[in-house]
Amino acid sequence: MIVHSETCYTLHTAHTSYQMSVGPDGMLLHTYYGARLPDRAPDLTDGRAAHGDPGCWTDLLPKEWSAPGTADNRTPPCVPEYADGTEAAELVFAGAAVLPGKPALPGLPAFRGGADVQTLSVTLRDVFGLEVELRYSVYEKEDLITRTAVYKNAGSQPLTLHKAASLCMDYAPGSLDLITLNGTWAAERTPERAPLRCGIQSVGSIRGVPGHAHNPAIALCRPDTTETNGDCWGFAFVYSGNFLIEAERADAGQRLVMGIHPYHFHWTLAPGESFAAPEVAMVYAQHGLGEMSRRFHTAIRTRLLAPRWQDMNAPRPVLLNSWEACYFDFDEAKLLELAAAARKADIDLFVLDDGWFKGRNDTSSSLGDWVEDKAKLPDGLPGLCRRLNEMGLELGLWVEPEAVSPNSDLYKAHPDWAFVVPGRRPLEIRQQYTLDFSREEVVDGIWQQLERVLRSCPIKYLKWDMNRSLANVYSAALPAARQGEVYHRYVMGVYELQRRVTETFPGLLLENCAGGGARFDCGMLYYSPQIWCSDNTDARARLLIQYGTSLFYPGCVMGAHFSTVPNHCNGHISTTEARMAAALSGTFGFELDLTTYTPEELEALRPYVAWYRAHGGLLRGGDLYRLAGPDASALGAAWMIAAPDGSEAAVFAVGDALSGSHGTASMNSLPRLPLQGLDPAAVYEDEQGVQYTGAQLMALGLPLPGPRGQTPACIWYLHRV
Ligand code: GLA
Repeated sequence: MIVHSETCYTLHTAHTSYQMSVGPDGMLLHTYYGARLPDRAPDLTDGRAAHGDPGCWTDLLPKEWSAPGTADNRTPPCVPEYADGTEAAELVFAGAAVLPGKPALPGLPAFRGGADVQTLSVTLRDVFGLEVELRYSVYEKEDLITRTAVYKNAGSQPLTLHKAASLCMDYAPGSLDLITLNGTWAAERTPERAPLRCGIQSVGSIRGVPGHAHNPAIALCRPDTTETNGDCWGFAFVYSGNFLIEAERADAGQRLVMGIHPYHFHWTLAPGESFAAPEVAMVYAQHGLGEMSRRFHTAIRTRLLAPRWQDMNAPRPVLLNSWEACYFDFDEAKLLELAAAARKADIDLFVLDDGWFKGRNDTSSSLGDWVEDKAKLPDGLPGLCRRLNEMGLELGLWVEPEAVSPNSDLYKAHPDWAFVVPGRRPLEIRQQYTLDFSREEVVDGIWQQLERVLRSCPIKYLKWDMNRSLANVYSAALPAARQGEVYHRYVMGVYELQRRVTETFPGLLLENCAGGGARFDCGMLYYSPQIWCSDNTDARARLLIQYGTSLFYPGCVMGAHFSTVPNHCNGHISTTEARMAAALSGTFGFELDLTTYTPEELEALRPYVAWYRAHGGLLRGGDLYRLAGPDASALGAAWMIAAPDGSEAAVFAVGDALSGSHGTASMNSLPRLPLQGLDPAAVYEDEQGVQYTGAQLMALGLPLPGPRGQTPACIWYLHRV
């Protein structure tokens, strides 16, 4: 619900409110984001603004938006350059409107609108011609607000944007912690929490993709906020390219700015033209980080994923991926042997990873030539698909559409399709170049190849990989003055191709991937309902990665596979139960050479597959409660997924969590794991028929069996009797 007067605008969701107000000289001020206010809340602008202390107000007041050159010296959300070379703008309130639904951002992913969504559009204008339209869409039930900014040149001369962020928000003075998700290849999205220091702390990417190092989502919270208590504000960028998130602590308070990274971004607007920035999804929670995460999870499941993937009770295939099973070393006979073993474990879908196309036997060749390697697949993909189907398995396939190998036929035919700065040596990473997806004809060329492959036989799943960062970014199709558009146009090209793939093949399950988890963001989730979390499939490592990922993203979107021991990435050995706990909390699949398994070992995998099928609706659609967090020194974790109505729950405990969440294990008393999210009055029964009340489980906890050697783990299913 949006309530407003001439000067004050309040956005209400079920449990949160957001308010802005027009202050002195038309300055738009941020006045509140927190727990739900009364419907007709008064304007919460503080006294200084109301009385307008002309000497200092502009640098001290909490703003809703700002521009440089106006004595507000905090980091600005936008930097325009006018034709006269000046870079100052005084953006003042010019009007606002409440719109039903949500206007589209053409070519960009966004949380989906609907009849129950309202949008506030506020226009700010500078006398020299820059207009910024701030858009806020309110999702009441989900406690979600999305924001963006649309920049328009309403003047008579061209103007250039050097920075065009999506969000700016000021907090009143006080201490805040900043939580970011950081890492590297095979160790993505490890949470890091630290008090915001004076100055600017930022995370970002100039790699062309968000990258392994930082995720484009952050949270701010009070220093005493925990999993279950305290204020927190979460922000997730709905974008899959360069980004910059700046959190600044200044004398007047804190400022958060989020948007496309200004590195090599400049966008000239002719009079009348506009530029739409990607959106940011925001959630406030009063009851700690757990509540914040659950709000993001629900919003992502019900408002971001494509409608056809929103039904969490609809079955999802259990897959086997060939990568860790055989890498590049396979032929059809070997694949069919692997498939036969997969079938014995009751697996549904066989994913043929890298290496299936012309001459691809290692990373040195063939990207861009998307035709079957007849040496490995004599009857092509249709032949393999037919044989798999006869065995009762579906076919899935790996591609890397944005990549091209220097020795490929595609590159030989179109050397200008790859990014290279004229006069510089083209830069190989993983022995490949990147195609210039800012160009329509390049996207068209790859689409023609992909469409042919996807039409050649019933392919049910596509893994879209992207294995390097962008470099040498220069488009042969644009003049020098417009090279600053290329990074963003590239991302738009990726979105366009994913749109074509998913709209033309609506039944196809698309999984995004980027050298593991380098493109794990809300932009990708608009097109694909799942993303490969990390190339590290070790259970212990996955606990950290998936725990961090779960801060914003639900388990149903986290690509997670059961793999072999010792783990191929780090050599670690963990129990079957621990590896299953990690995989079952994500999309659940397998990635190992099952031909080495005995018939009894294959048989022993079936109950896990059956368990996933039986409880898939709960695992994908339930509410996540993080019960015990893993940390880098004592790896172990416990978490549970409860049905929103408290009727059932799945509980997982791995490693040190089994020593009890309140201290070390005692040999004399069983440690207990207190649960959350249950109905206190209800009686629950576990799979052994043991009964507990919800109150007991939440206060005293579930009795744990105690530590049992290397990375022990337990998995429970409880239902209300
Ligand atoms: C990336 C992916 C892996 C695998 C390989 C294939 O590293 O993350 O899962 O697909 O590429 O080359």
